[in-house]
Amino acid sequence: MSILPELESRFRTALSTLDVDPEPLLGMIRRSQEPKFGDYQANFAMPLGKRLGKPPRDVAAEIIAGLDVQGFCDEPEVAGPGFINLRVRDDWVIDRLNQAVGDERLGVPAAEEVKTYVVDFSAPNVAKPMHVGHIRSTSIGDALARTLRFAGHHVVTDNHIGDWGTQFGMIIYGYRHFCDAAAYQSDPVAELARLYRLVRQLMDYHDGKAKLDPLAAKLTETEERLEETLASTEGQKLDKKAKKQLNKLRKDAEESREALRSLREKIAAIDETPELARLAAEHPGISQAVLTETAKLHADDEENLQLWKEFLPPCLKVLDETYERLEVTFDHSLGESFYHDRLAPIVDEAIAAGVARESDGAICVFFDDHEVPMIIRKKDGAFLYATTDLATLRYRMEQWKPDAVLYVVDFRQSMHFEHLFSAARQLGCGETELKHVSFGTVLGEDGKPFKTRAGDAVGLESLLDEAVARAGKVVAENDDAKPKGPELSPEQRTQIAETVGIAALKYADLSQNRESDYVFSYDKMLAMNGNTATYMQYAYARVRSIFARGEVDVDALRAAKPTIYLDTPAERALALELLRFGEAIDLCLKDYRPNQLTSYLFELANCYSTFFENCHVLKAETEELRHSRLILCDLTARTIQKGLELLGIDVVEKM
Ligand code: ARG
Repeated sequence: MSILPELESRFRTALSTLDVDPEPLLGMIRRSQEPKFGDYQANFAMPLGKRLGKPPRDVAAEIIAGLDVQGFCDEPEVAGPGFINLRVRDDWVIDRLNQAVGDERLGVPAAEEVKTYVVDFSAPNVAKPMHVGHIRSTSIGDALARTLRFAGHHVVTDNHIGDWGTQFGMIIYGYRHFCDAAAYQSDPVAELARLYRLVRQLMDYHDGKAKLDPLAAKLTETEERLEETLASTEGQKLDKKAKKQLNKLRKDAEESREALRSLREKIAAIDETPELARLAAEHPGISQAVLTETAKLHADDEENLQLWKEFLPPCLKVLDETYERLEVTFDHSLGESFYHDRLAPIVDEAIAAGVARESDGAICVFFDDHEVPMIIRKKDGAFLYATTDLATLRYRMEQWKPDAVLYVVDFRQSMHFEHLFSAARQLGCGETELKHVSFGTVLGEDGKPFKTRAGDAVGLESLLDEAVARAGKVVAENDDAKPKGPELSPEQRTQIAETVGIAALKYADLSQNRESDYVFSYDKMLAMNGNTATYMQYAYARVRSIFARGEVDVDALRAAKPTIYLDTPAERALALELLRFGEAIDLCLKDYRPNQLTSYLFELANCYSTFFENCHVLKAETEELRHSRLILCDLTARTIQKGLELLGIDVVEKM
């Protein structure tokens, strides 16, 4: 077990003699900032003192009197106003390290309570190419699934592919009117993607035109109100409320102006391209027509269904190629189309249960705490994304009886999931944890959503290619600069570049607080220094190179169970950090945050660097010390490898 859970468990017992709930207090046990305060510090005597009306130092002493850390920590010390300082005993640390040496799980215990998790991630809409946003859902979801599995849980991964939505109405329409037969023949997916983009553009053009006048009217109105307000308050000192009102008007005007500007720009882009302008003029009712095509597909119209069946396989094949490259697999890929027959029944069920009712011809679920309802059947009978999700959840509950369902999806869908979860609760999905594992937007270096020059989202495939190409340069430069000259063959370089490039992309994503937006930068993600995959892979390769250089037989070393010495601060610090692996996994799973794991690995690599700078390994003073240090190196390499594996990242033996 890691140190922190062990400490928590011991303090839980000690605190139980006081008349308080120990759980919130246990969160106040932290690692010490400085070695002179021991390894860990418990800070709860101060708030407890206040609550119990006693001096905190007395409370601390009382807790210590009931604390059993024999054989685990040295005698606890009370410091300052009432901090309890703890220093873990070296023999305890050494004992745990010895256990880790012979354990595939590196001493990390499996969860006591095994749960079933359904992880819904990636879920691209086919026919649209995968883009930069999908790397987030895919990397985060895959990392969580791997980590949950390692923790001993039962995990079902399900790729809820968007294979049934409006985008099919769009490509069916596009195929009928604009298809380049030769292009479709040679690369159907590329042609379908082109058709998708074209139809999107034409729809946006007409929808945008319809929005222009109302938007302009709204702007005029806001500007007039702003002027009036300014005129009527001229020369007066404004109170807080009036200032706030004025600011709101200014902000509204600014937003409308910006929206109008961007709308006009998009419209002008079409007007200025004769070919597009002609198509736009020839297809004025395109938006409605697309809805009709979609509705026909959903009503099992034979021709549209036939086209759908023709389009889907090549689209899925392209997705699979990307997943293969990313080394991501799914237990199931039950796309939206799978639930087609289950939509009407779930709506009927919701009505019968009194959870949904008719409003303006549509069927809606209303909520106490939300103004807007969730529509599950439109006036024209069409079902929506929300209906599919409701049917999907029902199916998952029946099929897998999960304790938790995680949805790794963009933050923009927050409202959708709040609605979905609330409706699902009303429909009786019991105690199951329903969690939107939400993530932010990928930004370009200009701080705006990452787009190509043409304004499209950047395709995932080209992103991977670029990352790999740049990784190739980093690998080559590093290899060329080796003191004894390059070591890698061209084939090795190519292979390493693929691993390093893809790892950089994934890790850049995973190492962010998932809820923040993050700036996409190839240079940063491939940096040899800092919290990057490249740095971690390099750290791993460097540790491994020691074994090659020293011609060490690692298996024999492990089997020999050498005595471990922790006599210098750097050795001891590395050892303590190695024992924190399980703690990092717990933290990662607590709120589904892979960045807890990347932070840990980064700290581990830093501890290792300090160790390596301060302690000779191959040239250690004695043979015994050499073995002890080699085993620390080995544990470091294994922990980095395992940690990266949980993040879906491969290591390389040489770099
Ligand atoms: N296909 C959706 C999109 O691209 C994401 C689906 C997420 N999963 C879900 N069960 N809603 O926006």
